[in-house]
Amino acid sequence: MVKSEMRFREFIKNLKESGRLNEIDYPVSKYFEAPYMASKSDGPIFFNDISKSRAVMNLLGSRDELGSMLGVSKDEIIDRLSKVDFSGKVVLVNDSPTKQNEINEKDVDLTKLPIMKHFEKDGGLGYITAGIVVTEFEGETNASIHRLMIIDKNRLAARLVPPRHTYVLHKKASEKNQKLPIAIVIGPDPIITYASTTRVPLGKEFEYAASLRGEPVELFECSNGIKVPHAEYVLEGYIDPIKRVPEGPFVDITGTYDIVRDEPVITVTKIWHRNDPIYHGILPAGPEHLLMMGVPYEPKIYKAVSEVTTVKNVVLTEGGCCYLHAIVQIKKQTEGDGKNAIMAAFAAHTSLKHVVVVDEDINIFDQNDVEFAIATRVKGDKDILIITNVRGSSLDPRGEIDGTTTKVGIDATKVLNCSELFERAKLKTFEN
Ligand SMILES: Cc1cc2nc3c(=O)[nH]c(=O)nc-3n(C[C@H](O)[C@H](O)[C@H](O)COP(=O)(O)O)c2cc1C
Repeated sequence: MVKSEMRFREFIKNLKESGRLNEIDYPVSKYFEAPYMASKSDGPIFFNDISKSRAVMNLLGSRDELGSMLGVSKDEIIDRLSKVDFSGKVVLVNDSPTKQNEINEKDVDLTKLPIMKHFEKDGGLGYITAGIVVTEFEGETNASIHRLMIIDKNRLAARLVPPRHTYVLHKKASEKNQKLPIAIVIGPDPIITYASTTRVPLGKEFEYAASLRGEPVELFECSNGIKVPHAEYVLEGYIDPIKRVPEGPFVDITGTYDIVRDEPVITVTKIWHRNDPIYHGILPAGPEHLLMMGVPYEPKIYKAVSEVTTVKNVVLTEGGCCYLHAIVQIKKQTEGDGKNAIMAAFAAHTSLKHVVVVDEDINIFDQNDVEFAIATRVKGDKDILIITNVRGSSLDPRGEIDGTTTKVGIDATKVLNCSELFERAKLKTFEN
């Protein structure tokens, strides 16, 4: 069995052996060049010399890679994810290969790491995009990816979206005027990175990852007391209770620049890294960013819709930034099921803006087929649900400044009492 500390490298090795890794051997700059190359690469890309370090991008950039990480085909991802609980085992170990190299506070220089600048107008000196911020305050813990902008050699600005758990823990610490100890984990077992982008109950990210993996997650203790999984890099530090700086501009999932806000400041007090470490960078608005943001919500929507009708499948579409648009496929049994499915989907994923509900005979991965359902099964005054002044995504450029928006649900399912009108005619098939 692969040792848990080797999972990240093992995943990359498997990509390489199966011919899916685009390996770049010549020197590449971390400023704009590597992100540009990642945007042009069909799949995972590995830089052997990115500003004198090693890095991988597009690691989980397709449903095929996600499926291979979970040990299922891409069509079985939602089913697999919707059955996993948070009861996996976490064990504390004494040592970790992450501790092979230690950089102490006075020598910390974030500008020496392969932390990239991606887009022309990016703020700061570069952004960490696959950093899992692990926090602990008064016995409560959390692990979640946050974008982290380099301010100077040892400080970062962290975008903490309310009411996500890191935001909540920082608020609690800040109200008591206390520093919030943190550790930033880069390049653990990819299943842990995935788990940290999932909205699980407070402190359950590593248990969730262990359930997904089907084996315990090992954690070791940093010098500031934060317990983290084995990884390529771990940056220790704290979030200041008060200090804030303008964070951004940064390109988020919509491919547009998120607004600049005043966000909390992290001071990095130590860096641990493996020998010859591999940095993980996620291209903002690239397929890996979109999938990691969106896929964790698909099982949530699936489960919520299954409470009101028989759900068959759910997808957050790429055109909708894997976040703002969902297609929900149901087996309609009673009139009105489509509307209930719309409401359940909005409740499960509060950032969702538009949802289309379709029948079993529609291929939800084929946008033409979905459009066909809208074209032939929707009557505007009967089947479109408009909900105004409701909380939406902070990432929607068309949302209001107070975070509200208008949501639209389209019930593109057949009318049951005349379903024969919607039957899709089939040609007789002939064997050659
Ligand atoms: C690549 C990537 C970047 C993200 N950046 C941020 C961020 O900057 N701020 C934030 O609050 N959430 C960000 N998220 C989303 C959170 O990681 C995610 O919602 C997480 O599940 C929050 O869970 P929690 O509330 O349990 O902490 C990002 C997700 C991904 C995949």
